[in-house]
Amino acid sequence: MDLQELRRVMGHFATGVTVITTMDKAGTPFGLTANAFTSLSLNPPLVLICIDKTVQCYSCFEESKVFAVNVLSEDQEELSRRFATKGIEKFSGIKWHRSEVGVALLDGAISTIECKVVHGYDGGDHTIYLGEIVRARCSGDRPLIFFKGQYHRLPQHNLRS
Ligand SMILES: Cc1cc2nc3c(=O)[nH]c(=O)nc-3n(C[C@H](O)[C@H](O)[C@H](O)COP(=O)(O)O)c2cc1C
Repeated sequence: MDLQELRRVMGHFATGVTVITTMDKAGTPFGLTANAFTSLSLNPPLVLICIDKTVQCYSCFEESKVFAVNVLSEDQEELSRRFATKGIEKFSGIKWHRSEVGVALLDGAISTIECKVVHGYDGGDHTIYLGEIVRARCSGDRPLIFFKGQYHRLPQHNLRS
């Protein structure tokens, strides 16, 4: 299978954009941009995320056993680009606070979902982490969208609450 073509085909699935945060043993925050996030079960409350085995914070998921999913707003494209860039200090100069379970919650996210890792499953070059939700909040309704490798926003008239 042609991997370039496979990537192009998969890019036709429109998603929101999240920054998933976790921490190391010392409590230092880590995070990465991710769209492989799924709401899985309401009872019990479960989500799943898929983490590339080569990312810098990979071992933190095993060590801390906690993570938070920060769903980005349409104004947070720069944040998405930053947390998708390897080798930079991702948290410098951005606004965030530590949650009750210790992970970073990013200011301006439209929702935050704090989880305890309950299982990790092998998924090829990724690990699928099952998270039990311990706290979930929403505070906005203008999401950042990712489609065909580019960022998009919802048109204004689609917003009805
Ligand atoms: C829109 C978008 C979605 C992404 N989704 C994921 C994902 O679901 N899982 C993942 O492991 N990496 C994903 N990535 C790639 C990581 O964000 C990227 O490899 C990041 O630099 C890893 O952080 P590191 O510097 O800690 O290695 C995505 C990148 C973008 C731009």
